[in-house]
Amino acid sequence: MNNVSELLTFIENSPTAFHAVANICSELEASGRKRLSEGEAWKLEAGQGYFVTRNMSSVIAFDIPDGEADSFRMVAAHSDSPTFKIKENAELAVRGKYTQLNVEKYGGMLFSAWFDRPLSIAGRVLVRTERGMEARLIDVGRDLLVIPNVAIHMNREVNDGFKYNAQTDLMPLFGDETAKDGFKKLIAETAGVAEEDILGTDLFLYPRVKGTVIGHEGEYILSPRLDDLECAWSGLRAFLAADKPARGVNMLCVFDNEEVGSGTKQGADSTFLYDVMQRIFIAIGRSAEDAYRAAANSFMLSADNAHAVHPNHPEKTDAENCVFMNDGIVIKFNANQRYTTDGVSAAFFHRLLKDNEIPFQHFANRSDIAGGGTLGNISGSHVSINTLDIGLAQLAMHSAVETAGAKDLDHMVRGMTAFYTSGVETGRDGEFFLG
Ligand code: CO
Repeated sequence: MNNVSELLTFIENSPTAFHAVANICSELEASGRKRLSEGEAWKLEAGQGYFVTRNMSSVIAFDIPDGEADSFRMVAAHSDSPTFKIKENAELAVRGKYTQLNVEKYGGMLFSAWFDRPLSIAGRVLVRTERGMEARLIDVGRDLLVIPNVAIHMNREVNDGFKYNAQTDLMPLFGDETAKDGFKKLIAETAGVAEEDILGTDLFLYPRVKGTVIGHEGEYILSPRLDDLECAWSGLRAFLAADKPARGVNMLCVFDNEEVGSGTKQGADSTFLYDVMQRIFIAIGRSAEDAYRAAANSFMLSADNAHAVHPNHPEKTDAENCVFMNDGIVIKFNANQRYTTDGVSAAFFHRLLKDNEIPFQHFANRSDIAGGGTLGNISGSHVSINTLDIGLAQLAMHSAVETAGAKDLDHMVRGMTAFYTSGVETGRDGEFFLG
């Protein structure tokens, strides 16, 4: 399989952040990296790779070098995408005839894209065990639900712009009146347990559409959740390709909850990354001084997709600092530092990409558009290291299906691999040596 079909398979098998992290963990495990638990003591060996999850929806993987652990090379991306979460009391009856599911939105999606397409349910259930409970991932895995549009005859002005109400317009149809009380049963059946043994759930909708290759020469990919599973997957490929470094610690961080501000115990605005870095230095018997020196020599690529010039609305992007699909890795700039890139981190990455002949382009929002933030600057408030924000150019961000460049995947994997195999040392403030 080539990169594109591998990515599309990964996305299809990752309907939620839980599944994405589980799939990343399986690959890490298959590569010989060892699973750690935050609740247990860590014994780390030189030349060995490890990974640890938090909430089953964020994962940090790292390789301990044979040589000095004198720096960190980190790639960060996010595991979540905008969707709908199912409320605890999940069923809604309509005129005694329909059963809907009661959902609320997770993150900021394009509502219209979720209508009139088959949807299903996936997520995590907490199941009673003899001594407590355990989490299981489930995926109903069949066409199950629809959020039906109102016919044009009943809403003649809809094409002139429509304001969706999240409480009334976006409830998916689950079945007829016989589906009443059917939701818990379906979830229990899918989990293979008795209904009364389900103690808690985190369940989400997902669009059933499969990713595909489109365009005159197959130059684009169209798939759900490209933001940000495309960068998470690229980070994983590069992390595995770089293998064990001679010196410095390679790290892959995939955080949940970027789409809702990262402010959870497992998000980029938590202590997860800081905790893991501290524990590495404790476990390998290094001093606090060593940890500070390593931080000064460290770089992070915060990878999250970027807005390509829209074919119908090129005016939405800056005249020159605009990006196109398939034209290479996007380096993002923002004067107010919602993107972390600065002259130093840009210079480092420019040099790396030029040396490796990997194409790149520069993005900044129109000066009169605020644009979106991402996790780089949030993570930076906990672990303050040189960071730059990068991504791949895509259309229709936060739609149920998004469009990106088929060739860009190779660009990103190669760029991240070059990063993982690079070395940096700091001299005076503002001086760096590459090697
Ligand atoms: Co994103």
